[in-house]
Amino acid sequence: MTTPLPTVRTIAELRAQVADWRRQGLRIAMVPTMGALHEGHLTLVRRGRELADRVLASVFVNPTQFGPNEDFGRYPRDEAGDAAKLAAAGCDLLYAPGMDQIYPQGFTTSIDVGPVTRRWEGEFRPGHFNGVATVVTKLLMQAQPDIACFGEKDYQQLQTIKRLVADLDIAVRIEGVPTVREADGLAMSSRNAYLTAEQRSRAAGLNRVLRTIAGRLAEDPGTVVAACEWGRGELLAGGFDAVDYLAVVDAANLEPLERVDRPGRILAVARIGGVRLLDNAAVGAPSA
Ligand code: PAF
Repeated sequence: MTTPLPTVRTIAELRAQVADWRRQGLRIAMVPTMGALHEGHLTLVRRGRELADRVLASVFVNPTQFGPNEDFGRYPRDEAGDAAKLAAAGCDLLYAPGMDQIYPQGFTTSIDVGPVTRRWEGEFRPGHFNGVATVVTKLLMQAQPDIACFGEKDYQQLQTIKRLVADLDIAVRIEGVPTVREADGLAMSSRNAYLTAEQRSRAAGLNRVLRTIAGRLAEDPGTVVAACEWGRGELLAGGFDAVDYLAVVDAANLEPLERVDRPGRILAVARIGGVRLLDNAAVGAPSA
């Protein structure tokens, strides 16, 4: 049986533990999460372990990154289950702050990272990235880790956080970790739990289409428009109800590309029923 994971709930307790590790000369990695943990999150913890001496994970379902009609209220919450998974993956500490530790009475600040947040998810989820940027800044300032690990699955989020940390001189290395997938290629996500079995069987089509587009663009980098048009049609024919976006973008600033003449990413969101499935794939030379 794994030993229960030490859990702290206040900034003061968190800082006391981090200060103790610092006195011992230990390097610290942080894995910020919203809980409902799956293998993707646990891979972040394992990557943190490779890079640092201690790993701390946070679980906080952040209200400011959810739109008014989104799933904040029903987002899956299971702190005991999450803590057991984190402990088994080698995590040393869980930070599970109450709302008052993140958004105390009178809190009004919102961080806007600018152009990298405007398109794609930014268009479909107004305010989402301000909420992400604000909470990530708070978590990083509270814990002050050496390294923070984020999944590449939320690729626009990862680029937003890299920009934020560079712009605000936050002394942390941001480590992007490749997406963890189910056997059929579906990117792991806490929201996959919303799919019915029948919807789940259609969902893997998204990654198949992205991989095919990546292959086509490797052969002929100038066919971005045609490849995306083909991909859209393929998704709709393959049982997706809508495609919010399917685009090839510059891997760093996320501006659209018409030709893959530099490191790029295919970004896509397609819907099955009410569930938005998000995925991406690298194209062109490997991105930094
Ligand atoms: O990716 C997530 O789980 C969240 O957006 C994050 C980074 C923990 C901020 O709430």
